[in-house]
Amino acid sequence: MKVTNLSHGSFIIDFCGKRLLIDPFFTGNPKASEIDVEALNPDWILITHGHGDHVSDVENIAKKSGCKIISNYEIVNWFGSKGVEGHPLNHGGKFTFDFGTVKYVNAVHTSSMPDNSYGGNPGGFVVWNDKGCFYIAGDTALTMDMQLIPLTCPALDFAILPIGDNFTMGYEDASIAAEFIKCDNIVGCHYDTFGYIVIDKDKARKSFESKNKKLFLPNIGETIEF
Ligand code: NI
Ligand code: MN
Repeated sequence: MKVTNLSHGSFIIDFCGKRLLIDPFFTGNPKASEIDVEALNPDWILITHGHGDHVSDVENIAKKSGCKIISNYEIVNWFGSKGVEGHPLNHGGKFTFDFGTVKYVNAVHTSSMPDNSYGGNPGGFVVWNDKGCFYIAGDTALTMDMQLIPLTCPALDFAILPIGDNFTMGYEDASIAAEFIKCDNIVGCHYDTFGYIVIDKDKARKSFESKNKKLFLPNIGETIEF
């Protein structure tokens, strides 16, 4: 599994021959000027919640690449009204796609759409097949529900957790989340994009080290492999 950091909460994950684009936010993102949006060409777009810093480029990329989206029912309907096709999930539900199984799991956050319409409840995704398993937390606080993930899903190879604080959990809470989900390899996201969420990266790494976890902070555009 190859994970490319596209800044903020945006990633592309090469998973068994399919390209999964997570929460594309390039338009209006001060850190995304180097991203070649045309070259992303995803097979699926996974959307954790409706906020603009997670959906700003869904419509243009989906229409260009012809890919479908996976998100909660309300978000899939909202994009459906714009001519983007998708598969709706809701919390606790899973479905097996052409690349593997996706389960939509709880997040503690909010989820209005860019036009302020209702975006359902925010979530995260656990994605797996017989080659591997990973968790994308989306924007969330630390929550006890994270302890359900190792009880209900295969063992995680890696997880993408927000660490920027202010709008989501900070790195201290995220290192506890790594324990709750029983995952040793954490990719940090949702930090340094704008002023409220600038972090001390050394302190963040040490917070995870203190729990015998590894925090990966790939540069924007950098790919790491699990
Ligand atoms: Ni958000
Ligand atoms: Mn966000």
